[in-house]
Formats: sequence, C-alpha cells, structure tokens
Amino acid sequence: MFQTPISTFLNQHFDQHNLSGSLKETLFAVINACVAISSKVRLGALSGVLGEAGSGNIQGEAQKKLDVIANDILINALRQTPTVAGIASEEEDNFVETCEQGEYLVLFDPLDGSSNIDVNISVGTIFSILKKPHSGSLKVDDFLQNGRNQVAAGYVLYGVQTQLVFTAKHGVFGFTLNNHGEFILTKDMFRLPETTAEFAINMSNQRHWETPMQTYIAELLAGIDGVRGKNYNMRWVASMVAEVHRILTRGGVFMYPFDKRDLTKPGKLRLMYEANPMSLLIEEAGGLSSNAKQNILDIQPTGLHQRVAVILGAKEEVERVNLMHA
Ligand code: AHG
Ligand code: MN
Ligand code: MN
Repeated sequence: MFQTPISTFLNQHFDQHNLSGSLKETLFAVINACVAISSKVRLGALSGVLGEAGSGNIQGEAQKKLDVIANDILINALRQTPTVAGIASEEEDNFVETCEQGEYLVLFDPLDGSSNIDVNISVGTIFSILKKPHSGSLKVDDFLQNGRNQVAAGYVLYGVQTQLVFTAKHGVFGFTLNNHGEFILTKDMFRLPETTAEFAINMSNQRHWETPMQTYIAELLAGIDGVRGKNYNMRWVASMVAEVHRILTRGGVFMYPFDKRDLTKPGKLRLMYEANPMSLLIEEAGGLSSNAKQNILDIQPTGLHQRVAVILGAKEEVERVNLMHA
C-alpha cells in the first residue's frame, strides 16, 4: 500500500483539529504532490518546466509544460492513494476513476496562473475535496455536487514563499514550506475584513462587461468624489491563487465577471476547480462569493468544466455587486 510521508508539523495541526483517517490521508496525498510540484517550480528553466507543451486541453486552452507536469504529478500521486475514488482535473477531458473503495473525490486546477510561469510570477495549485456519494463505480454526476458539499478545499501558492492554505471547514489556516519539505503553521486563522479599498479585475475587458458591472467599477474609480466616498486601489496579478491569497491576507475583492466576448461562456473561471474551492475558503474566513446573482457555493453544477462569473472577497463589495445586478 502507498505510504504517504507525514510532516510532523502538519500532523500536529490535523490531530489538534480532529482531522484524521481517510480525509487526512487524502489531504496529505494532495499536499505532498504539491511539495513535488513546488520543487520543480523553484528550479524553473533548470528543471525544464518553462515554455509551451505544444498541446491543448479540453477547454481549448494551450497548455504550458508546467500545466502538464503538475497535472501528471497530482494524478500519479492520487492514483496510488487508496482513500481517493476519483479525480477530476482542469487538464483532463474526463474524470479518472481510481480506487473503488476510496471515500473521496479530488478535483483540482493543477497549475493556476499559467500565463505567469515563464515570467517568474506566482502560480499555484487549487484543490477541492468531495465525498463520493455512494459505493460502486463512478459517474460524472457524482462530481457535480454544489460547493457547500466540499469537505475540504485549499491551494498551494508557489510564490515568494511556497504556502499551503486550506480549510476542512475548521477555519482557514496557512502554512509555509521550509527547506526540509515540511509545512509549518504560520497563519492561525485568516479573517477577512468586511470592507476594503482594494479591488482586482482585468480592466482591459471593461468594454465587454454588462452595464451593472460597468456601473459598479465606475463607482470605485470615482473614488472620494463618487457615491462610495473613498479612494480605491487596484491590483491584477492574473493568478487567481495569488489574488485570493492577497485578499485573505489584507482584504479586498476579486472579480472575473461575465463578459460578452463569448456568449456561450458564463465566465472565464471554472466552477469545480477554481470558483468553488476559493469560495469555500473566502466564506470560511468571513467573506462572500457570488456570480453576481447567486452565492457560488449554492450553484448546482451541470458539467465538470463549467465556467462561472466570480466575485469574491469583502462582504460589503460583493453585496454591492449583487445589488447592482438585482
Ligand atoms: P489557468 O492558468 O488555470 O488557466 O487560470 C488563469 C485564470 C486565473 O488564475 C486568473 O485570474 C485569470 O485566469 C487571468 O485571466 P486574464 O489573463 O484574462 O486576466
Ligand atoms: Mn486556473
Ligand atoms: Mn490551470
């Protein structure tokens, strides 16, 4: 049987919060795979991870070498983890059935922020864990559970430091990777301020947004002279994982709204691999998430690779966006 190496420090955290058994084993398998990805990311050109893979994924996006490498590392690790029944990945056409006896389904964006790999800006892995709803062989419907059903979610940010941030609905905790490949607790509970003066959106898409989003952003840009009565600052890293980490750390609101570039897509980001896990983290930390009409965690998924509009972060701002769309 595959033995997951255990970091003593993470182990202590799991014990303190009564996270044990299959869930612990599943999370450790994901986390250890991310440690392996981190060691490749850290070496960049020296580990051959930069550049294009020359292939595309099911969503019509060109794959970078690191998209493929990170995906393979996670899939290989989880295939050998007996608590994992099935896997769904942004980079795989279909779900992968692994151990029939397994209790959990693991969904992930193996490498978020692909456009940043080659320019040495933060990227990350985002993961979501669901319970397998029945015994027996898997169907795609088994994965199509709403975000509230997640038993755990998190990300590993390959940034200036490699950090793990996760929740098993016990609060949101942060860990930093040391030189021995161990995650050490460095943030005991992220809490998100309800208000903020910092927003994140790709402004180059402005002309494609619908009127309510145009109005909302215009209010922010008007600053102290407008109805909001304060000046806002803007950031856009183009790695959701880095934006969410900044928001958890110092507050803010992140938006990738619906736009009219491709009317067949309700948004750019993926519900199962990006929006749901990040929304769970944000809500657990006291924030809110929405697709401008409905809480993301309440959306009934209809497809593994489904896209969604995303507005998440400080409550006051997300509620304002919802109000504009009401
Ligand atoms: P991925 O690299 O997994 O395809 O995700 C990239 C996502 C997200 O991380 C980021 O917020 C957004 O795409 C950036 O999009 P733009 O390049 O359109 O700004
Ligand atoms: Mn992504
Ligand atoms: Mn990705």
